[in-house]
Formats: sequence, C-alpha cells, structure tokens
Amino acid sequence: MRVEDIDTPALIVDLDGLENNLDRYQKYFDERGIGLRPHIKTHKCLAIAHMQMRRGAMGITCQKVSEAEVMVAGGVDRDILIPFNIIGRQKLERLVALARRTRLTVAADSEYTVQGLADAAAAAGVALGVIVELDCGRTGIGPPAAAVDLAAKIDQAPGIELRGIMTMPATLDQRPLIQETLALFDKRGLPYPVVSGGSTPGAFNAHQIPELTEYRAGEYPVGGVGHLKGGTHSVEQCAGRVLMTVVSRPGEDRAILDGGSKSLSGATYREEDGSTSMGHIVEYPDARIEGASEEHGHVDLSACKRKPGIGERVQVLPVHPCPCFNEHDEIVAVREGEVEAIWPVDARGRIR
Ligand SMILES: Cc1ncc(COP(=O)(O)O)c(C=O)c1O
Repeated sequence: MRVEDIDTPALIVDLDGLENNLDRYQKYFDERGIGLRPHIKTHKCLAIAHMQMRRGAMGITCQKVSEAEVMVAGGVDRDILIPFNIIGRQKLERLVALARRTRLTVAADSEYTVQGLADAAAAAGVALGVIVELDCGRTGIGPPAAAVDLAAKIDQAPGIELRGIMTMPATLDQRPLIQETLALFDKRGLPYPVVSGGSTPGAFNAHQIPELTEYRAGEYPVGGVGHLKGGTHSVEQCAGRVLMTVVSRPGEDRAILDGGSKSLSGATYREEDGSTSMGHIVEYPDARIEGASEEHGHVDLSACKRKPGIGERVQVLPVHPCPCFNEHDEIVAVREGEVEAIWPVDARGRIR
C-alpha cells in the first residue's frame, strides 16, 4: 500500500525521520553517559517504545499509571518512572500491582503523597522507589530545604526507597536549584542515585547540567511545529504528520481541510508577529491553519503563490504531538511513500 492509498484524515509517521530522531538523541545521551528515559506520553505506542528500548533507552517514563499498565502488558517492562503524584486508593492499588512486574519509581512533592505511597507499598510488600520533585513552576516542592525535609521522610518511611530528585523542565537556569538541593542531601547523608531532568527543547543542553543521571524526553521522536521553529527538528525530522484532504475552497485565499481539532488537537502556535496557527502544511509552508472546528481545518492561503485545489492531499505537522497522537486509533508508518506498518496507539485515552 502506498501513502496515496491511505484514507484521510490519518496520523502517519515517516519512518526515516522517526529513526533519525531516535538514533541522534540516543547517541547524544550515550556519548555523555546520561540515561535516556523516553516519555511515552507523546506516542503512547508500544511499537515505538520497543524501538526506543532496542536503541538503548534505560527505561521509560509514563505520565499516568494506566499508560504504564499498557506498556508493561506489552513487554516494555524494564524500568519505569511515573513523574506524577499518585493520589487515591484506586491508583495506589494499581501502582503497587505494577511494582511487582517492573522496577518502578514515582515522584512526590508532599507528605500526603509520600504517606499514601508508603502505606500502599508496605501493605503490598513491594519495592517502590520515590524521587522528590523540585518546584520549577508546576508541581514540585520548594525551597530546597523543604525538598530535603521531604526526602528525609521518604528515607525513613517503611515500604518506599528514596531514589533522588527530578525537575521539569531541566533548563540551565535550574542547575543552581539542583546543586543547592543536592548539597543539602549530602549534608544529611541522603542518597540520590537518580537526578532526573526532562523535556525535548533543552535535551541537547543536558550535558551542561552534569548532575543529571537521566533525561526524560517525550516529543523528540516525532517533533512538531514548535520543534521546527525552535530548530531542533528539520521538516524531515518532524516525523509525525496528519495526512489530510482539501475538501473545500470557499474563497481565493481560503481552503478547508477534512481534519480539525479532532485530528490535530486544539493546540496553537504563536508566531513572532502575534498570529497563531494550528499546524504547518508541509507542501504549503506559507499557508497558515488559522483555526479549526472539530472536523475542519481552516487555512489562510493569502501568503501562498501556489494554492491547493479541492481533492489535493497535504501533510500537516501538529503543533503539539502529544494530544494529537491521543486523538488517533492508529499510526500509519510510512517509508519513502510505502506503508510499512500500522501501529495501534496502544495507550490512547489512558489518562488515569
Ligand atoms: C514530567 C515530564 N517529563 C518529561 C516530559 C517530556 O517533555 P517533552 O514533551 O518536551 O519531551 C514532560 C512533558 O510534558 C513531563 O511532563
């Protein structure tokens, strides 16, 4: 089957671009002795997770317990980090069940979380690692003295094992926070085998934070509009695309695609001139997806010399690959126009 035979809208992944990304990020981290722990929330796909593990990933990151359940059931079960406060009996029961089947580490930023983890792990008699998330603007505990107090509580709690710290993201300006916190860990004699940083845009600066032992990158395999504009990915390296068809040309400067927010997600990118777009059309780089309804992409063609006709098919780079992939049941894997595989988005919709 050729790409021309795929019905639209469809999520496709260009295999040459995907493999190039998997190889270059893995090489970067291997050469610097930092573990790469891909975040599978982006693709939610076992086939891609297995490709990442085969290339040398130390383990994976899952945002949610249910994503980890899918990965473990599919054989991606070596070493999993869930960088999330797991709260509530329903999740804790599933978490400790998972800890029997894989090496598992979770993040915590409060005594409330730590107590729940410790009680569940001790009751189940499983080994559960815990890292302290430092406050970088979303979840996390600060200042460093408070983070270390929490680490000491984890260290003393029965059932759980203190494994270190994490930040999100891990930009260079987080380094003083990491250093200050680790100095306090040293003072109190607390262990920190794991110092985990993350996010794709800063990935190639990770070596400038030598304290990092591992790195969580999610979007690097497929890229997206932000990565194209930010320069980490060329158009070819933006491997995740939504194939769409022009279904209407209501005006000289307007085109309507057969996919909207249910194909691309509702994510928007703000250009330097203040305008926003919801995707980048590979064949028409001057076009702007100025908006979307659920099943229609609204394209402004005013800057285009050449304009697409009704029935023409285009490839659209999503702004944010993670919610985009979560909109699709399957990924069509294509190499040089030939379909090589169709992969389920195995953990699609797994948000608990
Ligand atoms: C905790 C955590 N780690 C790592 C990542 C991966 O970042 P990126 O998607 O930029 O690769 C994310 C993304 O949201 C995250 O929330």
